[in-house]
Amino acid sequence: MQTSPELLQPAAARVQIALGDRSYPILIGGDLLRDARTWAPQADRKAFALIVTNTTVDALYAAPLAAALAPHFARVRTLTLPDGEVYKDLAHLNLIFDELLGQEADRRTVLFALGGGVVGDMTGFAAACYMRGVPFVQVPTTLLAQVDSSVGGKTAVNHPLGKNMIGAFYQPQQVVCDLDVLDTLPDREMSAGLAEVIKYGASIDVEFLGWLERHIDALRARDRDALTHAVRRCCEIKASIVGADEKEAGLRAILNLGHTFGHAIEAGMGYGAWLHGEGVGCGMVMAAELSARLGLVSTAFARRIEALVARAGLPVRGPADLPPARYLELMRVDKKAQGGDIRFVLLDGESHAVVRTAPEDVVVDVITTLTAAA
Ligand code: NAD
Ligand code: GLY
Repeated sequence: MQTSPELLQPAAARVQIALGDRSYPILIGGDLLRDARTWAPQADRKAFALIVTNTTVDALYAAPLAAALAPHFARVRTLTLPDGEVYKDLAHLNLIFDELLGQEADRRTVLFALGGGVVGDMTGFAAACYMRGVPFVQVPTTLLAQVDSSVGGKTAVNHPLGKNMIGAFYQPQQVVCDLDVLDTLPDREMSAGLAEVIKYGASIDVEFLGWLERHIDALRARDRDALTHAVRRCCEIKASIVGADEKEAGLRAILNLGHTFGHAIEAGMGYGAWLHGEGVGCGMVMAAELSARLGLVSTAFARRIEALVARAGLPVRGPADLPPARYLELMRVDKKAQGGDIRFVLLDGESHAVVRTAPEDVVVDVITTLTAAA
């Protein structure tokens, strides 16, 4: 009797994304990346494995990952992209295709996305496009990528006129969240990841929101037990939503609390000036305030979200040099916009979200109130 590859894997928490024949596991634990057994499910001794990473993560984790993959593949190479949201574009996506074609990579090739959300989104999109689809694995190395971007199959690059506007839904074969790699993450990036963690509590799970209020300092200090719980709970919530609405026909949109304002800040300030998580953190404060002004949720709950975002080390005021008119212009190209109407994820109860339009004058007033003094 043959042992299934999953049984050979190291001990780790597992969350399953249930999507029929495209289902896959998320592994959460320590010391997973360097362990060759982690990668047993992808083993194909005739295949080429390409690790896609960036300059920062390459120096830290590409060599150990390549060594752990080596027993499973015919050959393993690493492609290193420049580091930054500003490079998440079609020109740099093309570097992945240049490498694949230059190496005569065939349909059995497996791509390994080693990095944060930028590398994950780009590698996933390249995997979706190359030869109309090759397998890929997410190896998220930021908190943000472990709790959100590596899970659920959204892949994309940016366009100067809008964030994540060119992409595809394409699911990975496996997601491996090795918590050890978070030890090297800068504090600012930890805070950015906490924005997406808070999002799940604020818009979906009020019990988790309370847990976050009690453990936010432990998370910032990278306490292992707190991190394990947070990454696992976020992945469980995301799994249930993606399992019900993979392609965002409706429900999945609630995972975008704060993103309409946040994407406008990111694009308006120039990609990379504000981190994605910083835009989302401040955007959640704006979305909660807008919800309160529309009478959908109590002002007390909006303040609760603002306090937690601030404790996570994130900005709670928009940039002084981004006027409301520029937000409106950018928000009209948001993916949730319909017929020129901006649609927001708003809170219509404590940890309950809805997608709807809002009167423009109220939106402008909220942005003005929540903008830092020049
Ligand atoms: P990122 O990928 O730019 O990574 C942040 C920084 O941390 C980079 O400088 C990176 O090199 C560095 N880094 C990564 N891992 C490290 C480690 N272990 N140690 C030290 N440094 C490390 O940013 P991010 O916050 O991970 O992801 C943001 C991106 O994710 C945005 O482009 C956003 O649009 C996308 N996103 C996608 C989804 C989705 O569902 N696909 C969801 C949320 C966000
Ligand atoms: N990050 C939102 C989503 O995956 O739908």
